[in-house]
Amino acid sequence: MELISPNFSDVLAPNFELKAFPDGDSYVRILDIEKYKGKDVILFHRLYPNQNESLIQLLFILKLLRDAKCNVTLVSPYLPYSRQDKTFLEGESKSAEVVCEILSEHGVRKLITFDCHFLKKEGEFTYGGLKIRNISLNRALVDKAKEKFKNEHFEVISPDQGASYLVEEFGGQSMKKVRGDYVKGKEAYRKIEKIEGDFDLKGKNVLIIDDMVSTGGTMFKAVENVKKGGAKKVGCATVHGFFLKDSLNKLKAMADFVIATNTIQNDAAEVNFANYLSML
Ligand code: R5P
Repeated sequence: MELISPNFSDVLAPNFELKAFPDGDSYVRILDIEKYKGKDVILFHRLYPNQNESLIQLLFILKLLRDAKCNVTLVSPYLPYSRQDKTFLEGESKSAEVVCEILSEHGVRKLITFDCHFLKKEGEFTYGGLKIRNISLNRALVDKAKEKFKNEHFEVISPDQGASYLVEEFGGQSMKKVRGDYVKGKEAYRKIEKIEGDFDLKGKNVLIIDDMVSTGGTMFKAVENVKKGGAKKVGCATVHGFFLKDSLNKLKAMADFVIATNTIQNDAAEVNFANYLSML
Protein backbone atom coordinates (compact mmCIF):
# COMPACT_ATOMS: atom_id res chain seq x y z
CA MET A 1 0.00 0.00 0.00
CA GLU A 2 1.16 3.52 -0.68
CA LEU A 3 1.03 6.59 1.50
CA ILE A 4 1.77 9.78 -0.37
CA SER A 5 2.64 12.99 1.38
CA PRO A 6 1.28 16.37 0.27
CA ASN A 7 4.92 17.37 -0.23
CA PHE A 8 5.08 14.82 -3.07
CA SER A 9 2.12 16.33 -4.91
CA ASP A 10 4.24 17.45 -7.89
CA VAL A 11 4.73 13.79 -8.86
CA LEU A 12 1.99 11.72 -7.14
CA ALA A 13 -1.50 12.39 -5.75
CA PRO A 14 -1.35 12.80 -1.94
CA ASN A 15 -3.53 10.61 0.28
CA PHE A 16 -2.92 11.90 3.82
CA GLU A 17 -2.97 15.27 5.55
CA LEU A 18 -0.16 17.53 6.72
CA LYS A 19 -1.11 20.83 8.33
CA ALA A 20 0.20 23.13 11.04
CA PHE A 21 -1.44 24.37 14.22
CA PRO A 22 -1.63 28.16 14.61
CA ASP A 23 1.59 28.17 16.68
CA GLY A 24 3.47 26.21 14.01
CA ASP A 25 3.31 22.73 15.58
CA SER A 26 2.96 20.04 12.92
CA TYR A 27 -0.31 18.15 12.37
CA VAL A 28 -0.49 14.77 10.64
CA ARG A 29 -3.57 12.69 9.84
CA ILE A 30 -3.71 9.41 7.96
CA LEU A 31 -7.29 8.82 6.84
CA ASP A 32 -8.55 5.23 7.32
CA ILE A 33 -5.46 4.25 9.31
CA GLU A 34 -7.19 0.91 10.04
CA LYS A 35 -6.80 -0.26 6.45
CA TYR A 36 -3.00 -0.12 6.72
CA LYS A 37 -2.89 -2.50 9.72
CA GLY A 38 -0.12 -5.10 9.37
CA LYS A 39 0.58 -4.12 5.75
CA ASP A 40 3.73 -3.36 3.78
CA VAL A 41 3.59 0.40 3.25
CA ILE A 42 5.63 2.54 0.87
CA LEU A 43 5.69 6.04 2.28
CA PHE A 44 6.54 8.88 -0.13
CA HIS A 45 7.61 11.94 1.86
CA ARG A 46 10.15 14.61 0.97
CA LEU A 47 12.63 15.71 3.63
CA TYR A 48 13.57 18.99 1.95
CA PRO A 49 12.86 21.94 1.97
CA ASN A 50 12.10 22.66 5.65
CA GLN A 51 14.13 19.63 6.62
CA ASN A 52 13.58 19.89 10.38
CA GLU A 53 9.82 20.26 10.08
CA SER A 54 9.66 17.47 7.49
CA LEU A 55 11.61 15.17 9.79
CA ILE A 56 9.21 15.84 12.68
CA GLN A 57 6.23 15.18 10.41
CA LEU A 58 7.91 11.92 9.41
CA LEU A 59 8.30 10.85 13.04
CA PHE A 60 4.58 11.45 13.61
CA ILE A 61 3.70 9.39 10.52
CA LEU A 62 6.07 6.60 11.55
CA LYS A 63 4.51 6.38 15.03
CA LEU A 64 1.06 5.91 13.48
CA LEU A 65 2.45 3.20 11.21
CA ARG A 66 4.35 1.51 14.02
CA ASP A 67 1.20 1.34 16.10
CA ALA A 68 -0.54 -0.16 13.07
CA LYS A 69 2.28 -2.75 12.81
CA CYS A 70 3.21 -1.79 9.26
CA ASN A 71 6.48 -2.58 7.46
CA VAL A 72 7.60 0.78 6.16
CA THR A 73 9.75 1.58 3.14
CA LEU A 74 10.41 5.30 2.95
CA VAL A 75 10.97 7.06 -0.38
CA SER A 76 12.66 10.44 0.14
CA PRO A 77 14.49 11.63 -2.97
CA TYR A 78 16.97 13.81 -1.07
CA LEU A 79 18.31 12.90 2.37
CA PRO A 80 19.05 16.05 4.41
CA TYR A 81 22.16 16.21 6.59
CA SER A 82 23.86 13.73 4.26
CA ARG A 83 26.90 16.02 3.93
CA GLN A 84 27.65 15.83 7.66
CA ASP A 85 28.99 12.28 7.65
CA LYS A 86 32.46 13.45 8.73
CA THR A 87 33.64 15.88 11.34
CA PHE A 88 36.12 18.65 10.61
CA LEU A 89 36.48 20.09 14.11
CA GLU A 90 36.49 18.22 17.41
CA GLY A 91 33.05 18.06 19.03
CA GLU A 92 31.02 18.47 15.83
CA SER A 93 27.89 16.39 15.41
CA LYS A 94 27.95 13.68 12.74
CA SER A 95 24.40 14.57 11.85
CA ALA A 96 24.11 12.23 8.84
CA GLU A 97 24.52 9.28 11.18
CA VAL A 98 22.09 10.72 13.73
CA VAL A 99 19.36 11.20 11.11
CA CYS A 100 19.80 7.64 9.80
CA GLU A 101 19.70 6.25 13.34
CA ILE A 102 16.49 8.17 14.06
CA LEU A 103 14.81 6.85 10.90
CA SER A 104 15.82 3.28 11.62
CA GLU A 105 14.86 3.47 15.32
CA HIS A 106 11.46 4.89 14.42
CA GLY A 107 10.59 2.03 12.10
CA VAL A 108 11.91 2.73 8.60
CA ARG A 109 12.83 -0.74 7.27
CA LYS A 110 14.44 0.71 4.17
CA LEU A 111 15.07 4.16 2.73
CA ILE A 112 15.01 4.60 -1.03
CA THR A 113 16.83 7.73 -2.09
CA PHE A 114 18.88 9.27 -4.89
CA ASP A 115 22.58 10.12 -4.95
CA CYS A 116 22.98 10.10 -1.19
CA HIS A 117 26.04 12.24 -0.60
CA PHE A 118 27.94 9.99 1.82
CA LEU A 119 27.42 6.74 -0.13
CA LYS A 120 29.13 7.86 -3.33
CA LYS A 121 27.87 4.90 -5.36
CA GLU A 122 24.67 3.07 -6.26
CA GLY A 123 23.48 0.02 -4.39
CA GLU A 124 22.22 -1.28 -1.05
CA PHE A 125 23.95 -0.09 2.11
CA THR A 126 23.46 0.06 5.86
CA TYR A 127 24.43 3.31 7.56
CA GLY A 128 23.54 4.38 11.10
CA GLY A 129 21.58 1.11 11.33
CA LEU A 130 19.40 2.20 8.38
CA LYS A 131 19.11 0.11 5.21
CA ILE A 132 19.44 2.41 2.21
CA ARG A 133 18.86 1.76 -1.50
CA ASN A 134 20.77 4.48 -3.31
CA ILE A 135 19.90 5.18 -6.95
CA SER A 136 21.95 7.48 -9.17
CA LEU A 137 20.46 9.90 -11.68
CA ASN A 138 23.80 10.49 -13.44
CA ARG A 139 22.78 8.59 -16.60
CA ALA A 140 19.48 10.48 -16.81
CA LEU A 141 21.32 13.81 -16.54
CA VAL A 142 23.90 12.79 -19.15
CA ASP A 143 21.07 11.73 -21.51
CA LYS A 144 19.41 15.13 -21.05
CA ALA A 145 22.76 16.83 -21.71
CA LYS A 146 23.01 14.97 -25.06
CA GLU A 147 19.90 16.86 -26.17
CA LYS A 148 21.35 20.16 -24.93
CA PHE A 149 24.64 19.60 -26.79
CA LYS A 150 22.54 18.62 -29.86
CA ASN A 151 24.31 15.26 -30.07
CA GLU A 152 27.77 16.86 -30.40
CA HIS A 153 30.43 15.00 -28.42
CA PHE A 154 31.10 16.23 -24.88
CA GLU A 155 33.43 15.38 -22.00
CA VAL A 156 31.89 14.62 -18.59
CA ILE A 157 33.74 16.01 -15.58
CA SER A 158 33.06 16.23 -11.84
CA PRO A 159 34.16 19.25 -9.79
CA ASP A 160 35.60 17.14 -6.96
CA GLN A 161 36.69 13.62 -6.10
CA GLY A 162 33.54 12.95 -4.07
CA ALA A 163 31.45 13.15 -7.25
CA SER A 164 33.81 11.00 -9.33
CA TYR A 165 31.37 8.06 -9.18
CA LEU A 166 28.98 10.16 -11.29
CA VAL A 167 31.41 10.46 -14.21
CA GLU A 168 33.54 7.30 -14.18
CA GLU A 169 31.24 5.25 -16.41
CA PHE A 170 31.50 7.96 -19.09
CA GLY A 171 35.31 7.92 -18.96
CA GLY A 172 35.14 11.26 -17.12
CA GLN A 173 37.78 12.82 -14.92
CA SER A 174 37.46 14.71 -11.64
CA MET A 175 38.86 18.00 -10.46
CA LYS A 176 40.38 18.32 -7.02
CA LYS A 177 38.63 20.59 -4.52
CA VAL A 178 40.24 21.93 -1.36
CA ARG A 179 38.03 23.40 1.33
CA GLY A 180 39.41 25.70 4.02
CA ASP A 181 38.20 26.77 7.46
CA TYR A 182 34.69 27.80 8.39
CA VAL A 183 33.77 31.39 7.56
CA LYS A 184 33.21 33.70 10.54
CA GLY A 185 29.63 34.17 11.77
CA LYS A 186 26.62 31.93 12.23
CA GLU A 187 26.67 30.12 8.90
CA ALA A 188 28.46 26.75 9.05
CA TYR A 189 30.17 27.05 5.67
CA ARG A 190 33.72 26.06 4.79
CA LYS A 191 35.24 28.20 2.09
CA ILE A 192 36.47 26.60 -1.11
CA GLU A 193 40.17 27.42 -1.39
CA LYS A 194 40.69 25.97 -4.83
CA ILE A 195 39.40 23.63 -7.49
CA GLU A 196 41.96 22.31 -9.94
CA GLY A 197 41.97 19.96 -12.87
CA ASP A 198 44.73 19.54 -15.34
CA PHE A 199 42.84 18.23 -18.37
CA ASP A 200 43.06 19.17 -22.01
CA LEU A 201 39.65 20.70 -22.72
CA LYS A 202 40.63 23.12 -25.47
CA GLY A 203 37.83 23.37 -28.05
CA LYS A 204 35.80 20.59 -26.38
CA ASN A 205 32.25 20.61 -25.06
CA VAL A 206 32.16 19.89 -21.33
CA LEU A 207 29.43 18.75 -18.97
CA ILE A 208 30.23 19.35 -15.29
CA ILE A 209 28.15 17.11 -13.07
CA ASP A 210 27.86 17.19 -9.27
CA ASP A 211 25.52 15.54 -6.79
CA MET A 212 24.32 18.92 -5.54
CA VAL A 213 24.50 22.63 -6.15
CA SER A 214 23.92 24.38 -2.86
CA THR A 215 25.43 27.89 -2.71
CA GLY A 216 26.91 27.32 -6.16
CA GLY A 217 30.48 27.99 -4.94
CA THR A 218 31.77 24.65 -6.23
CA MET A 219 30.11 24.88 -9.63
CA PHE A 220 31.15 28.53 -10.19
CA LYS A 221 34.81 27.65 -9.67
CA ALA A 222 34.52 24.52 -11.80
CA VAL A 223 32.98 26.46 -14.71
CA GLU A 224 35.68 29.15 -14.45
CA ASN A 225 38.35 26.44 -14.58
CA VAL A 226 36.94 24.70 -17.60
CA LYS A 227 36.49 27.98 -19.46
CA LYS A 228 40.07 28.99 -18.63
CA GLY A 229 41.11 25.67 -20.18
CA GLY A 230 39.53 26.78 -23.47
CA ALA A 231 36.35 24.67 -23.46
CA LYS A 232 33.88 25.33 -26.28
CA LYS A 233 30.44 24.90 -24.67
CA VAL A 234 29.97 24.26 -20.93
CA GLY A 235 26.91 22.66 -19.37
CA CYS A 236 26.21 22.20 -15.65
CA ALA A 237 24.20 19.27 -14.29
CA THR A 238 23.21 18.37 -10.77
CA VAL A 239 20.97 15.86 -9.06
CA HIS A 240 19.94 17.96 -6.07
CA GLY A 241 19.42 21.58 -7.09
CA PHE A 242 19.15 23.77 -4.00
CA PHE A 243 20.41 26.77 -5.98
CA LEU A 244 20.67 28.97 -2.90
CA LYS A 245 21.69 32.64 -2.98
CA ASP A 246 20.56 33.27 -6.58
CA SER A 247 23.12 30.73 -7.76
CA LEU A 248 20.89 29.41 -10.56
CA ASN A 249 20.78 32.80 -12.30
CA LYS A 250 24.51 33.28 -11.77
CA LEU A 251 25.26 29.86 -13.23
CA LYS A 252 22.95 30.44 -16.19
CA ALA A 253 24.93 33.59 -16.94
CA MET A 254 28.22 31.66 -16.88
CA ALA A 255 27.34 28.39 -18.60
CA ASP A 256 25.58 27.40 -21.83
CA PHE A 257 22.93 25.49 -19.88
CA VAL A 258 22.08 24.30 -16.38
CA ILE A 259 20.03 21.16 -15.75
CA ALA A 260 18.89 19.43 -12.57
CA THR A 261 16.45 16.81 -11.37
CA ASN A 262 13.36 17.46 -9.26
CA THR A 263 14.51 15.56 -6.14
CA ILE A 264 14.39 19.12 -4.82
CA GLN A 265 11.92 21.29 -6.72
CA ASN A 266 13.75 23.99 -8.67
CA ASP A 267 13.55 26.02 -11.87
CA ALA A 268 16.23 24.01 -13.70
CA ALA A 269 14.59 20.59 -13.13
CA GLU A 270 14.38 18.70 -16.42
CA VAL A 271 14.78 15.12 -15.15
CA ASN A 272 11.93 13.56 -13.17
CA PHE A 273 13.24 11.24 -10.44
CA ALA A 274 9.82 9.55 -10.23
CA ASN A 275 10.55 7.85 -13.58
CA TYR A 276 13.37 5.96 -11.85
CA LEU A 277 11.28 4.40 -9.07
CA SER A 278 10.17 1.47 -11.20
CA MET A 279 11.72 -1.04 -8.81
CA LEU A 280 9.01 -0.36 -6.20
C1 R5P B 1 30.25 18.44 -1.72
O1 R5P B 1 31.27 17.82 -1.71
C2 R5P B 1 29.17 18.28 -2.73
O2 R5P B 1 29.40 17.23 -3.62
C3 R5P B 1 28.95 19.55 -3.51
O3 R5P B 1 30.07 19.79 -4.34
C4 R5P B 1 28.76 20.72 -2.61
O4 R5P B 1 27.95 20.40 -1.52
C5 R5P B 1 28.15 21.87 -3.35
O5 R5P B 1 27.98 22.94 -2.48
P1 R5P B 1 28.14 24.41 -2.98
O6 R5P B 1 27.19 24.59 -4.12
O7 R5P B 1 27.76 25.25 -1.78
O8 R5P B 1 29.56 24.62 -3.38
